[in-house]
Amino acid sequence: MKILNVVGARPNFMKMAPIVESMARVPRIQSLLVHTGQHYDEGMSEVFFRDLEMPKPDITLGVGSGTHAEQTARIMVEFERVCLGEKPDLVIVVGDVNSTMACTLVAAKLRISVAHVEAGLRSFDRSMPEEINRIVTDALAETLFTTSRDADENLIREGIDRARIHFVGNVMIDTLLKHRKQAAALKTAERFSLRQGNYALVTLHRPSNVDDPAVLRGIFEALQEISVRLPVIFPVHPRTQKRIQEFGFAGVLGPAVCACDPLGYLDFLNLMSGAALVLTDSGGLQEETTILDVPCLTLRENTERPVTIHEGTNMLVGPGKGRILEAASEVTSGRFEKKGPPEFWDGKAAERIVQVLLDSRT
Ligand code: UD1
Repeated sequence: MKILNVVGARPNFMKMAPIVESMARVPRIQSLLVHTGQHYDEGMSEVFFRDLEMPKPDITLGVGSGTHAEQTARIMVEFERVCLGEKPDLVIVVGDVNSTMACTLVAAKLRISVAHVEAGLRSFDRSMPEEINRIVTDALAETLFTTSRDADENLIREGIDRARIHFVGNVMIDTLLKHRKQAAALKTAERFSLRQGNYALVTLHRPSNVDDPAVLRGIFEALQEISVRLPVIFPVHPRTQKRIQEFGFAGVLGPAVCACDPLGYLDFLNLMSGAALVLTDSGGLQEETTILDVPCLTLRENTERPVTIHEGTNMLVGPGKGRILEAASEVTSGRFEKKGPPEFWDGKAAERIVQVLLDSRT
């Protein structure tokens, strides 16, 4: 069975790593790793291959950045060429980035079967580009691997046949559990002069938060206030870095917020594990903090990952300054209840995925 495994952007790498590893143990599977090049900086891509000990991509498309249409179109043109040449039996895509949707469209039109890992998540907010990517990918993929029961229900509500849906758990958590010890052995927090359990970790990159100067200013003012009591470390995504420069916002954060370059997987896991509090608009961090038992304030109005609220450490706070400060002081004053972990977030999701693929193709 010949499988093309697709990665493109930062959040794809930690999801694909355990799948590639599990496949390597099965002689019947010939798997090739395709990197679209949606993310290309050393700190957004290569460091993850090293940290996760992932084999180098077999095929790289080098598409780079652009508008959504430009990026999607470039991925499609290049990936079609790869599919025609390689003639795979199956394409596996993960998550919800433009690469996920673009490669799914190409494969579906060539009548190549697609499996989507992390299917069925819905924010019900179509102003998020990822929501469009999720809907299109799930409509076209033949096999849908889900991380939570609510995702199964979303898919069934959309008319997808139950037989195509497989609840397997969370591959991102496979990677986290595997690397937790290794990350703990690093001195990342010390390198930034931070004390375990006594700092806040921040990430921000959603266009709705960082592309609007009024919204970004409110968030930055909240971070500045938090930093008066609790040191704040903020690895800055390239999109956000550009906006900070464009809006002249570097000074708004104040001297107690440490803004640094994006970090690799292990350094970031070290910082996340030791944080008193995480503030983020990322999807993956809501899940990772749930397993690490670290309180997570999600600076968005909705989440496609409600299980992290009901069975985790996530609180939906939105991007408004007042609510962020209120929630942060709730957490730091100890008024915070831990729940979870969600079902099947146990380090074995990739094994389950490979088993389903083998069972369905015997
Ligand atoms: C993408 C995903 C988002 C994911 C995020 C994680 C889509 C629609 N969005 O958003 O779901 O959460 O990745 O990071 O697929 N850039 C660099 N170097 C890089 C990559 C990007 O400088 O290696 C800059 C470029 O200016 C680019 C901008 O970041 O225009 C945005 O990159 P893009 O891939 O379009 O989207 P992200 O915001 O990274």
